[in-house]
Amino acid sequence: MCPHHKKNNLKQTQKSQDIFLRELTLGLPKRFEDVRILNWQDELHPSRAGKVSSVKLLSIIESKLEELILNPSNKVRGVFLYGEPGVGKTFALAALHNEIIKNNVARSAFINYPRFLGQSKRLFTDPVRRHRLINILTKVPVLFLDDIGSEQATDNPDYSWAQDELYQLIDYRHDEFLFTSFSTNVHPQELENRFKKTLISRMLGMTQAYSCQGDDIRPHLIINVNKKRK
Ligand SMILES: Nc1ncnc2c1ncn2[C@@H]1O[C@H](COP(=O)(O)OP(=O)(O)OP(=O)(O)O)[C@@H](O)[C@H]1O
Ligand SMILES: [Mg+2]
Repeated sequence: MCPHHKKNNLKQTQKSQDIFLRELTLGLPKRFEDVRILNWQDELHPSRAGKVSSVKLLSIIESKLEELILNPSNKVRGVFLYGEPGVGKTFALAALHNEIIKNNVARSAFINYPRFLGQSKRLFTDPVRRHRLINILTKVPVLFLDDIGSEQATDNPDYSWAQDELYQLIDYRHDEFLFTSFSTNVHPQELENRFKKTLISRMLGMTQAYSCQGDDIRPHLIINVNKKRK
């Protein structure tokens, strides 16, 4: 296939995947649709002075993006971002997802993991759509799984079912060297309280882990909006 057709094909499959995920209320939230690496505002991270700021993290990842995604011999196939609420983890993953799509690097899916679990369960009565959804998550060349681990926080009785679901797709992606990135509020030292060892081993084995530090940005955003209004 010529490069032009390849690019058009990629755009089409990405579009139909985005529509399918959006219908299921999955996929990239509106809030993060226009987020790009260049939109990153470092001044929103006042407490980061002296620490590796996330803007640096993003530019490191960006410079390696093609190499990470397109070179299957590269064994580290994504990032594992962990940190407190509101430090910009989702923002960082969304920025990477958008860069990949806008630059036609590969087909990419951005999934809020707790929402995926809800949908996956609901779709037990709709096996065709359920199969398509699981198929996307298992085989899409680039996958961002946002907010893993929080499903247990609410004392979810489906905990072990959720773990099996996650394990199956991560195991496949791990073995096939598919680019997969995660974000979580769970500190690596506490992972063992949340996830089975086999799952942790694969998730950390296929990614580079980064600690996202700083204050909760959300209150700063409100202050910024108020400042603009005055
Ligand atoms: N560098 C940034 N520049 C501009 N806006 C940002 C930046 N980082 C985060 N934000 C905004 O701050 C808010 C909080 O960031 P985000 O949702 O990424 O946090 P999080 O670490 O994923 O939090 P949680 O663990 O609660 O999901 C979002 O509205 C996001 O758009
Ligand atoms: Mg988040």
